[in-house]
Amino acid sequence: MYLGLDLGTSGLRGILVDDEWQIVAEAEAGIETSTKKPGWSEQSPEDWIDACKHVVTKLREANKLAFSAVRGIGLSGHMHGATLLGSDGKVLRPCILWNDTRSAHEAATLDQIPEMRAITGNIVFPGFTAPKLEWVRAHEPDVFAQVTKVLLPKDYLRFWLTGEYVSEMSDSAGTSWLDVGGRHWSPKALDLSHMSVDQMPRLVEGSAPGGELKSKLVQDWGLSGPVLVAGGAGDNAAAACGIGSISEGTGFLSLGTSGVLLVAKDSYAPAPETAVHCFCHAIPERWIQMGVILSATNSMNWLSRNLGQPVGSLAQALPDTLDGPSAITFLPYLSGERTPHNDSDIRGAFLGLDVSSEPVDLTKSVMEGVAFAMRDCLEALKSTGTQASSLLAVGGGARSRYWLEALATVLKVPLALPEGSEFGAAIGAARLAACAVSGASPNDVMTPPEIAEIIEPRADLLDVYEKEYQRYRQYYAALSPLAA
Ligand code: XUL
Repeated sequence: MYLGLDLGTSGLRGILVDDEWQIVAEAEAGIETSTKKPGWSEQSPEDWIDACKHVVTKLREANKLAFSAVRGIGLSGHMHGATLLGSDGKVLRPCILWNDTRSAHEAATLDQIPEMRAITGNIVFPGFTAPKLEWVRAHEPDVFAQVTKVLLPKDYLRFWLTGEYVSEMSDSAGTSWLDVGGRHWSPKALDLSHMSVDQMPRLVEGSAPGGELKSKLVQDWGLSGPVLVAGGAGDNAAAACGIGSISEGTGFLSLGTSGVLLVAKDSYAPAPETAVHCFCHAIPERWIQMGVILSATNSMNWLSRNLGQPVGSLAQALPDTLDGPSAITFLPYLSGERTPHNDSDIRGAFLGLDVSSEPVDLTKSVMEGVAFAMRDCLEALKSTGTQASSLLAVGGGARSRYWLEALATVLKVPLALPEGSEFGAAIGAARLAACAVSGASPNDVMTPPEIAEIIEPRADLLDVYEKEYQRYRQYYAALSPLAA
């Protein structure tokens, strides 16, 4: 029996799976994000622990006997967050999250140092961890002076579970402190951002052991024996493990809070000039390339909040099948954008509003705007020579048929829908736990799912959507100089 825990931005999800990969129980607990100022996004690490306790309680209630047989725990989590700990292991300030862009200035300064891209294989994006520490150094020097360890969100959860400071390659690749090709901390990159290797956790591969559950928790949770905690993964690498995307060219399109187009690579393939992310995979000697947009389902959540209607009702008002582009264009840059623009100043926009525009037109344009942004990611990946001939669609947004048809048509790529519902990061985390406990080869464990359906691009609408995509690109080009 394995426990997969995925610390997502909006909540922590736990699944209990048996050795045949049947889901025995699942549970979720919501987590609040505070956005005190424009561009800020923070969470309290204590809330992650409370969410974990809540999820474990619910899973135990669902099946105490099965839970007691857990032998391994796999962790996945939102990437890049800076959880700062003092010498007593206490959290010094709220965690600054992946979609927080306050450190744009610090990021740009670090990014101008040529060694940073050369070592880390990536742009130093404002959401990454190193510029956050530079921001803390400039604005909260007392806190900075006390920082003894910096942990990524899921690694703070591990610290609570095991008492150990450990991370793994896939998540650490998003700090701007890792030598991503060499898979080790870079003393040089750390030094350039006023940090040192002793402030970093020990590194393991995601599929290797990354600590043991504290005996107190083994007892409190009624577990029958020692429980290994695997290295685990950043949420995107974990999701790739969950859908068996570990060999060259296999990938997914994920519509979560962020939108991600991920393709697995057999070799290290950095291309920072394209704003494509190049990170380590969660298994040894593999890497991933990703195009990342900051607001995918988050754009729909924003619309829902402002129209005062649940996302489900907004989606239900759409036609059953794609019926051509909306007259309104939406730019989904609610928190700035990563791929392909690396622009933390740009913000979202509706263009082409008419006196007759209705909520349903806004919903359509939001879904299309996200699809256009994902097309930008695809073009960026293609420009590095990476091919994605077929992609799996995962994440909460993939429940909308209309959105999937729009995406397939705008991307001009068929989207495969996995059979069953559980193909997120939590199952990937559980798979990593299985590798760590049994020593099984990731090739045997990370198998692709059965495909329920393939959503083909709508041939009759390809041209009109292409035209709209070109217009969308021009809107960004026209607006970005005004936003700066
Ligand atoms: C990836 C990224 C997001 C977060 C949150 O670089 O920032 O996908 O991991 O899911």
